[in-house]
Amino acid sequence: MFRLDHKIALVTGSGSGIGREIALLYARQGAHVIIADIQQDAASRVVDEITAEDGHAQAVQLNVNDEAQVQSVLAQLAQQHGRLDILVNNAGVSHVGNILETSLDDWDRVMGVNARGVFLCAREAVRQMVAQQPQGGVIVNIASVAGMIAVDRRLPYGASKGAVISITRSIAMDFVQQKIRANAICPGTVHTPFVEGFLKKNFPQSMDEERKKLHARQPIGRMGEPAEIASAALYLASDEAAFVTGSTLVIDGGWTAK
Ligand SMILES: NC(=O)c1ccc[n+]([C@@H]2O[C@H](COP(=O)([O-])OP(=O)(O)OC[C@H]3O[C@@H](n4cnc5c(N)ncnc54)[C@H](O)[C@@H]3O)[C@@H](O)[C@H]2O)c1
Repeated sequence: MFRLDHKIALVTGSGSGIGREIALLYARQGAHVIIADIQQDAASRVVDEITAEDGHAQAVQLNVNDEAQVQSVLAQLAQQHGRLDILVNNAGVSHVGNILETSLDDWDRVMGVNARGVFLCAREAVRQMVAQQPQGGVIVNIASVAGMIAVDRRLPYGASKGAVISITRSIAMDFVQQKIRANAICPGTVHTPFVEGFLKKNFPQSMDEERKKLHARQPIGRMGEPAEIASAALYLASDEAAFVTGSTLVIDGGWTAK
């Protein structure tokens, strides 16, 4: 079950954290994975990890916020592989601030990667998936619980992730006849370099104390692990999820059930 043999999968932001774990799992399940990240070195390291396990992967430097780059990278990949079966829009950045603590630059930076980047990558992927009918394709978007509920001082981040949930539903409905499935995952707090960077930047003197609060804020009593998001991203990409589209899968240790 959940095999991805012979599938071509592009995972954005897969040089680190959740994206890296999704890429490793997809490769173990038989996919050829394109590790696309703004950090070329990080992408190459993940390719090395996959190759060391006898998996298939290639690294691509990609800024998801750059329309020309997204178009040219996806066109090159289409030429090389002839198709794109799976896109995971995972690249993301954050900003801590309420509306008065958010400059226009902060807003543009977060919306640029998290919303515009998802729009640009998904648009090129859908173009390719429509062209490769009848097999279509699958899009998995990594949103966040911050797109569903108000998380303290995460104004642009929450707005961007709300946009991701909405983009997901629109693609799912607009392209259901073309056999393109699109689903979103909303993680709670997951222990990745993203979270450690947040702690270091915002609480340099009390990182341990603040890390404990992040664990405790989720009823299960801990942060999630990247592998716990990757397994959901595998399910959604697999043929076993053929009846799942337009959905939002919440994986948050019970946070939003309170
Ligand atoms: N960690 C969490 O608690 C958490 C919770 C909910 C949602 N998420 C979401 O999961 C996704 C992955 O988060 P993570 O915790 O693994 O983060 P991370 O910082 O560990 O990894 C993010 C990756 O995205 C890459 N990236 C950043 N900007 C990019 C751009 N413009 N183009 C291409 N790549 C870019 C980075 O280089 C990095 O490799 C993000 O969308 C994030 O919002 C994370």
